[in-house]
Amino acid sequence: MKRSTKHTTAPAAVHYVPAEMFDVTRVVRGEGVCEVACAAIEKRFSTPAKKHFFGLRTPVPFAVEIPVGGDAAAFEASCGIDAAGAPGTVALKVLADGREVWSGVVAAGDTADLKARADVSGAQTFTLVAEPADGGAGKGVGAVWGGAKLLYADGKVLPNDVRRTSRQLGILTPPERPEPRVNGPCVYGVRPGRPILFRVPATGAAPLRVEVIGLGLDSPKLAGLSYDPATRILSGRIDEPGDYALAIRATNRLGSDEKPFTIRVGETICLTPAMGWSSWNAFAGSVSDEKVRTAADALVATGLADHGYAYVNVDDFWQNIPERAKEDPDLDGPLRDADGRIAANRRFPDMKALADHIHAKGLKAGIYSSPGPFTCGRAAGSWQHEELDAKTFAEWGFDYLKHDWCFYDDVAFGSDVLRAMYPYLVMGAALRHQKRDIVLSLCQYGMENVSAWGRCVGGQSWRTTGDVFDTWSSVSAAIEKQKRLFLYAGPGAWNDPDMLCVGAVCWNDGKESRLAPNEQYTHVSMWALLAAPLMIGCDLTKLSPFTRSLLTNDEVIEIDQDELGKAAGCIAEGDGWEVWARPLADGSIAAGLYNKSGFERMVPFDLKKAGLLCKWLVRDVWRQEDEGVFMGVYEASVPGHATHLVRLRPCRCGRLRDDVTDVRDAAWRLLREKDLARV
Ligand code: GAL
Repeated sequence: MKRSTKHTTAPAAVHYVPAEMFDVTRVVRGEGVCEVACAAIEKRFSTPAKKHFFGLRTPVPFAVEIPVGGDAAAFEASCGIDAAGAPGTVALKVLADGREVWSGVVAAGDTADLKARADVSGAQTFTLVAEPADGGAGKGVGAVWGGAKLLYADGKVLPNDVRRTSRQLGILTPPERPEPRVNGPCVYGVRPGRPILFRVPATGAAPLRVEVIGLGLDSPKLAGLSYDPATRILSGRIDEPGDYALAIRATNRLGSDEKPFTIRVGETICLTPAMGWSSWNAFAGSVSDEKVRTAADALVATGLADHGYAYVNVDDFWQNIPERAKEDPDLDGPLRDADGRIAANRRFPDMKALADHIHAKGLKAGIYSSPGPFTCGRAAGSWQHEELDAKTFAEWGFDYLKHDWCFYDDVAFGSDVLRAMYPYLVMGAALRHQKRDIVLSLCQYGMENVSAWGRCVGGQSWRTTGDVFDTWSSVSAAIEKQKRLFLYAGPGAWNDPDMLCVGAVCWNDGKESRLAPNEQYTHVSMWALLAAPLMIGCDLTKLSPFTRSLLTNDEVIEIDQDELGKAAGCIAEGDGWEVWARPLADGSIAAGLYNKSGFERMVPFDLKKAGLLCKWLVRDVWRQEDEGVFMGVYEASVPGHATHLVRLRPCRCGRLRDDVTDVRDAAWRLLREKDLARV
């Protein structure tokens, strides 16, 4: 089927293209790779490089050739050395189409900012070269190009930018309907006797009445639960394990909508992937109590909370960081007080008051620490203080802990998987001892196949990738890593391919995400298919209509939050395209037709091969429109780097082939074929 082509946005004006968007794969000299690193939190980067959020790191000797396409004017970077105290002097050069346009020398311990500024106008490629100088560079010494960037004239983009090669999708989500709609998950997990806090998400024209039906029927057991229709907050506790079947109804002058809602009291919490906001991508090291409160307020004011976003998570830099006191006096102070309690910095005068503020809105509060002696930002980690920190976080009222490996390497012991599991086992147990449920979100970037054991150490979600940034290479690489991980996801156990990079993110000078619109569709569609936590990472006070439309499409969110909790697998692939699919609780199937190429192309979904027999009604999820009934093969024309997200409902004779358990059987087959091809 040929889809209609609704043309929209023109290429955005770009003043400079930063290192994290370069294609750094063409190594022309030396061994190893050129990495894009988060300079601000890199352990060994020199001070000038650390001033930048990102940087390139290369081994020495090394040369990498980077395509620029003739449009760039200049190249700039703060040069340095990456060495853990090892002596070394490195000669750096920049070549434009093979001609030297800049050179300099850096030595270990340099604190002055050596600025590379090179004229690369007209060049098709430029090359970064690092060589040992004056007595050489020790083993392990690297060259750093902090804040490396190419300056372009307005409107020019890199040669491989999809804005050059394909039409871009505009806003697809229909405007919010005035009819009432109950949104959010239909199941909520809580441990017996632990506080329940749920702000009922619902939309519709005001005045909108939102009721919770069934409270009081099962009386004695539900006596501890109350609902306030004015704030839409359901709160209290239930002591006895079991399923409590309630319903939520929203009513206004245009009608009413009702949805079943089960409170499942038992040992498993976080029955659907966490949805909310985290401070890191928006503010990184400049987070403050005020910014977090503003985000909590904005989550409600923008209506995002009415679509299910509930967590407000403070990431790194809420603590004192004496090592950074010179750069930022707000971070000055002891890591812990005389009793060993972890200390918040001046920007966070009262952590309990902050959590209370978030709770008063019916939202949940998240905090950040590390199992190591330090977090990635060099604040105190929880090493050897796990019980006390868990207690402190619980007393302050936090509901979620992101526990980031960081400097744990320095104290880790044992080997392989046990080495990786141990610190989380300790914190998992410490959190479990508290009198409130605290979601444990493991952040160790996928080491030792964390998906296979994250739940065994008490985690509810685990990062499966390094940090994801708002670049196509980053997002597409993260997707690639999820191919086998559908095996491990389920209620209370989620793969986490990192926070969302849509909207105004901090490393882009607080401007809109540099992902092209099509790429943002792939980002959000895939995260929903993967049953990933949906953690917004942008400044909510600068929410553009496009970003809002990406984050508030209830049919997309419904896929992410589906109670069956089965994550998508890649069930078919061809040259430059893939189809990912997952079964949903109501017997329907969600699928993403993912175009990995930079050009618009047809992507086929062979229903028959995937075991979907007879007829299926296909719905375009982003546009919220039925496309028609299909049999055999369904295909769509998908713009470059975009994903066409559909939901298929069996219609009349539509059914699964007898030998198919669910649509992901095809993903198993694909993985098996690949494994066989490898041996
Ligand atoms: C990284 C982590 C980021 C952020 C940062 C804070 O290791 O992956 O998401 O939390 O640390 O320093």
